[in-house]
Amino acid sequence: MKIKFKAIASLAIVAASTLILGSCSTGPDSSGHEYMPDMYRSPAIEPYVDYGEVRGREQEGVKMKISSLVPPHYTIPYFGTDSASVRLMLPYFRKANEAFKLTHGLYGADLTPADEYALAINDVNPLKLTADNSEAIFKKGKELFLANCSHCHGEKGDGNGPMVVSGAYAGVPDYKTVAAKEGQMFYSIYYGKGAMGSHSSILNKKEIWTIIHHIRKIQDDKYGTFDASGAMSAGSVTDSMPKPAASAGNPQ
Ligand code: HEC
Repeated sequence: MKIKFKAIASLAIVAASTLILGSCSTGPDSSGHEYMPDMYRSPAIEPYVDYGEVRGREQEGVKMKISSLVPPHYTIPYFGTDSASVRLMLPYFRKANEAFKLTHGLYGADLTPADEYALAINDVNPLKLTADNSEAIFKKGKELFLANCSHCHGEKGDGNGPMVVSGAYAGVPDYKTVAAKEGQMFYSIYYGKGAMGSHSSILNKKEIWTIIHHIRKIQDDKYGTFDASGAMSAGSVTDSMPKPAASAGNPQ
């Protein structure tokens, strides 16, 4: 009986060591042999996983892709009950520049060789400020800005967010020195510009235009203030806004 137990015990030890040693691998980045891969990797397609390399097998075509975050082309995400916002849910009519494929990873986007950023100078904010709605729009704009942008741009929009102060990041402009008109701001926020990435997958058009009101308020304190008669106060930046080009229209 004793001998039998010893034999079983040593067999078990040998089996266990074989199993443990067998799972080792020389590759420094390898997790070793996976006996039950389903426990490590979900068999279901995960939205945030880069499937460009699975178990050492590389697939160039799908590398660096935000796979399921991108909705099918020309589908329109619509939510809410405000029918006045329907136009704002339509896809942005300007296309990304072809160069953005390399610089901003805009794979799968409709690209164009035209300088759409230059053309965007004529686009105006479709969210019109009035004496009644301005307070709510500025409040929402600030909230979205603090959640999505201030880590780089700074709470005051002076370009000194914690990312910049920590030394991790540089080249963020003070909004007061930004010459871009609001249509161009939209283009840059939507597709990205220089070291700033595209925000089109995390903010919808209405949210971006709402933030732009907040940015313009940072640039000019008088922006979006109204006198007793409900007219926009003199000195507001709105007065210097370029008029939309007649031919281009403004389908925003
Ligand atoms: C990772 C850091 C980072 C984040 C996050 C970021 N930005 Fe930027 N932003 C930059 C940098 C860098 C530039 C300068 C780009 C250039 O001119 O090359 C810039 C430029 C801009 C400009 C000027 C664009 C122009 O056309 O000149 C605006 C407006 C702007 N950002 C708004 C935003 C808004 C709104 C958000 C949040 C939704 C945001 N940014 C998030 C780094 C960032």
